[in-house]
Amino acid sequence: MTRDQALEIVKKYTTKEITYRHLISVEGVMRALARHFGEDEDTWGFAGLWHDLDYDHTADDFDRHTHLTIEWLRAEGMDDDKILNAILAHKYPDHRHSLIDTAIVHADAVAGLIVAAALVRPEKAAGMKVSSVKKKLKEKSFAPGVEREEIRNVEESLGIPLDEFLAIAIAGVQDMAPEIQLV
Ligand SMILES: [Fe+2]
Repeated sequence: MTRDQALEIVKKYTTKEITYRHLISVEGVMRALARHFGEDEDTWGFAGLWHDLDYDHTADDFDRHTHLTIEWLRAEGMDDDKILNAILAHKYPDHRHSLIDTAIVHADAVAGLIVAAALVRPEKAAGMKVSSVKKKLKEKSFAPGVEREEIRNVEESLGIPLDEFLAIAIAGVQDMAPEIQLV
């Protein structure tokens, strides 16, 4: 599957701009992490891109969250177990077996923080620094929905020091910035 085809699936199943932006931003972070680890970029990127695909349809029925996504993706002909399991893994700890399954949890959280931080800057994601994202991480009232622990514990979980992880994640979101109006 090409990235264009993967994006078509996102456009087909998401209804809210905020969900679309979240998915693309997590894709960007996952691609950057895949490069860091020498893993397959599309596999990691697509897992990030689709992880909350059903969000606009399951917000009031959270038990179906991720399961509906898997159903849709299979119907679209996507049967890569690595991708499908990583999508389940971002919700269910029982599914976290390999690096991609853990990485997606951290990518999800950090992309949320970086996008929120970019939205309050006039220059959006451009020129964003690790230090300013760290400041937002400490500011609990800022973007309170972000699971901060899943950012702070990244070193013990993925073996990447926090500052380096934030730099990788910022670069990943910046790569996607033109697609999600963050430039
Ligand atoms: Fe997410």
